[in-house]
Formats: sequence, C-alpha cells, structure tokens
Amino acid sequence: MKKLERLGMKQGWVYETIISTGRYRLPHAAPFGIWTDDYITIKSNFYKGSKTLDNILSFRNYAVNLPRDTRPFYTALFEEEQMAFLRSRKIDAPVMDHSAACLELTVKGIEEKETSFVIEGSVVHSRMGEGVCLFNRAQSLVMESLVMATRIHHMSPTVAEARLNENLRVIRKVAPDSDFQTMAESMQKKLGLPC
Ligand SMILES: Cc1cc2nc3c(=O)[nH]c(=O)nc-3n(C[C@H](O)[C@H](O)[C@H](O)COP(=O)(O)O)c2cc1C
Repeated sequence: MKKLERLGMKQGWVYETIISTGRYRLPHAAPFGIWTDDYITIKSNFYKGSKTLDNILSFRNYAVNLPRDTRPFYTALFEEEQMAFLRSRKIDAPVMDHSAACLELTVKGIEEKETSFVIEGSVVHSRMGEGVCLFNRAQSLVMESLVMATRIHHMSPTVAEARLNENLRVIRKVAPDSDFQTMAESMQKKLGLPC
C-alpha cells in the first residue's frame, strides 16, 4: 500500500490542510486543499496572489501539515503570530508544531491556469502520527443539506435551491464518486431540484 493510501487519502478527494512555506526564521502558513491522483504525488490549486504560492514558486519546497482539529485553520488565518513551527527534515520550509502528520514536499510540476496555479509535489519525507484526521468537507455539507431539506418549506425557495446546489457542487468536487455525492444527488431528486 502506498504512503498516501496508508494515510487514508482517497484518489481525487480534497483534504483541507495547513501548508507551511518560507524559511525557518521567516515561517508562513495558511489553509489549502490537497488531493492525490496516484497516491504518489500531491496536488493543490493555489489562487494567484497568495503568499504561499509565491513562496512555493520561489523556494520550490513546502510542507503539508495535517492538524488534529479545526483550531489551526482559524489560527493560521486570523492569529498567525500564534502559530508554532519546527525545523523540517529534508526541506528548507518549516513544519507546523503539534500536527498529527506532516509531509515535506519538493515541487515536481507547475501548471498555470487563468486564475490559479496547480502545483504538484513529491513527498521527500513524511511523519505520520497516531489518529490522523483527514478533513474533507463533504460530510458536513451533506449534513447541512439534510438540515436544509427539513426547512425548505420555511425558506425562500430560491435561497434554499441555491444553497443545496452549491453544497452539491462542492461535494462533487471534494468527494467525487462518494456516498456523500450519491446522497446529495438523491436528495436533489427527491426534493424536485435539478442535479
Ligand atoms: C479550509 C480552507 C481551505 C482553503 N483552500 C484553499 C485552496 O485550496 N486554494 C486557495 O488558493 N485558497 C484556499 N483557501 C484560502 C486561503 O487559505 C486564503 O486565501 C489565505 O489567506 C491564503 O494565504 P496566503 O496569501 O498567505 O497564502 C482555503 C481556506 C480555508 C479556510
């Protein structure tokens, strides 16, 4: 079994992580989604204008940190000065302290799109602790859609439809061919909405 498969990742599914970049004395971190197409390399889509993207393009290496809970996503975005880092093993970029798992990557491929760059990274070192929790948005989106389905008659139909459609769009993106997708599509049909 390949390393990323052992971590619990599913091909094409998007997992939310904290990507750390820069140098140990000048660390930077922000939340980003990652996925694998082959269980060997990791891909991410970075919108242009991101400091993380600029660091990756300059330094050609970065770390994917898997947090233990959602708090580091908040901290990275709103209290960056509270983030704690450690030295990495095989790259220059720092890694996040207290992560459940950490992957050190070097850039293997760069694909420029209209508004973003897709970066493909090769794992050069990994640390996997106990109880790694992979954050995928599909589960909570299905839950939100189920709650909305019970309230649809008390809401503006346009608002309800737009939210359910948006949830379905994201579920298809982050968990393709999953049972979450099947449930969301079936819900649309049962509610008489297009899917
Ligand atoms: C859970 C989560 C996932 C995110 N995933 C991405 C992503 O995949 N690509 C992206 O460009 N921005 C993503 N963002 C937004 C970036 O984290 C945000 O724009 C951040 O400010 C970028 O920071 P930087 O400019 O320091 O790199 C995500 C945000 C959150 C909270």
